[in-house]
Amino acid sequence: MDEAKLNDFMGKLVTDMGGAAMIANIILGEELGLYKAMADSQPVTPEALASKTGCNARLVREWLSAHAASGYMEHRDGEFRLPEEQAMALAIEDSPVYVAGGAVVVAALYHDKDKLVRAMRGDGALAWGDHHPCMFSGTERFFRPGYRGHLVAEWLPALEGVVDKLKAGAKVADVGCGHGASTVIMAQAFPKSNFVGFDYHAPSIEVANQRAKEGGVSDRARFAKYSAKDYPDNDYDLICYFDCLHDMGDPVGAAQHAYQSLKPDGSVLLVEPFANDKLDENMTPVGRLFYAASTFICTPNSLSQEVGLGLGAQAGEKRLRDVFMQAGFRQFRRATETPFNLILEARK
Ligand SMILES: C[S@@+](CC[C@H](N)C(=O)[O-])C[C@H]1O[C@@H](n2cnc3c(N)ncnc32)[C@H](O)[C@@H]1O
Repeated sequence: MDEAKLNDFMGKLVTDMGGAAMIANIILGEELGLYKAMADSQPVTPEALASKTGCNARLVREWLSAHAASGYMEHRDGEFRLPEEQAMALAIEDSPVYVAGGAVVVAALYHDKDKLVRAMRGDGALAWGDHHPCMFSGTERFFRPGYRGHLVAEWLPALEGVVDKLKAGAKVADVGCGHGASTVIMAQAFPKSNFVGFDYHAPSIEVANQRAKEGGVSDRARFAKYSAKDYPDNDYDLICYFDCLHDMGDPVGAAQHAYQSLKPDGSVLLVEPFANDKLDENMTPVGRLFYAASTFICTPNSLSQEVGLGLGAQAGEKRLRDVFMQAGFRQFRRATETPFNLILEARK
């Protein structure tokens, strides 16, 4: 036994446990409006923050101290300050790096622990709709900032000829659309196009229709409950999958259905979690987060469906290419990428 190695590992575990405890504190701070009350990055005492937010001053001091010890806030002479950079991540909901939704997704893993114990001891299946309800709202809020930041500005322009079609008026399917964050963002940017979001989870479709109304696009963005293999029509210019293809039991079947549903010159936009092709190449903070989430969410969801391919959230470009080649597509390429996403294009 190497004591130095043991100490190193214990240090890592203490850091991780602190991180896990801070996730709960992030959710608390968001719900209570504590971060928003500090969004101006001015120093504040616990008492002043407590009175501004209607919270208990002693508990607010403890919460602030945890943030200072975590490096999330600065502390000087009894006053705490949320720096501008941290405010972007924790206080400003419209910022492209807002993380509160991600914290809620992590919380869902803890809520669902008993379901995972059963799945692990059984057939591995846990369907999307059987998660704690905070999984659905958390996912929407986790992904939306990235879609707002990149989808219209970078991802669609990285596809061949797609933006011109969208400007002129195209027909678009957003498959596995969840609460429709991506669909609404595209519909807001391209008023002449028509968007339809499909998802097999009925409660998500209800929320998505509500989001289209709130976003002022219900005339051109509608949502309907269909699986990825049975939605109607065969004249789409663009079929999109946002962070969902690897969750499906039969991604090859889904891609075959897309092949039949696209116009001859149509395109597929496949947005997937960033991953390299091999486990050894994914030993990164992002790989760690996605493998851990995929154990609870993506892989059991795939195993709950027919075929149960179980790609997992770290499938990587090569395996995703194989899916589309098996489905009959002839062109497949990486259009662009971010630290969190691969943006892939498939054409007939
Ligand atoms: C991680 S969520 C992503 C949701 C949404 N695209 C987003 O980016 O916010 C995965 C979604 O895929 C949907 N899904 C999984 N399997 C499906 C299938 N076979 N057919 C249609 N939707 C499916 C789930 O219901 C869920 O809404």
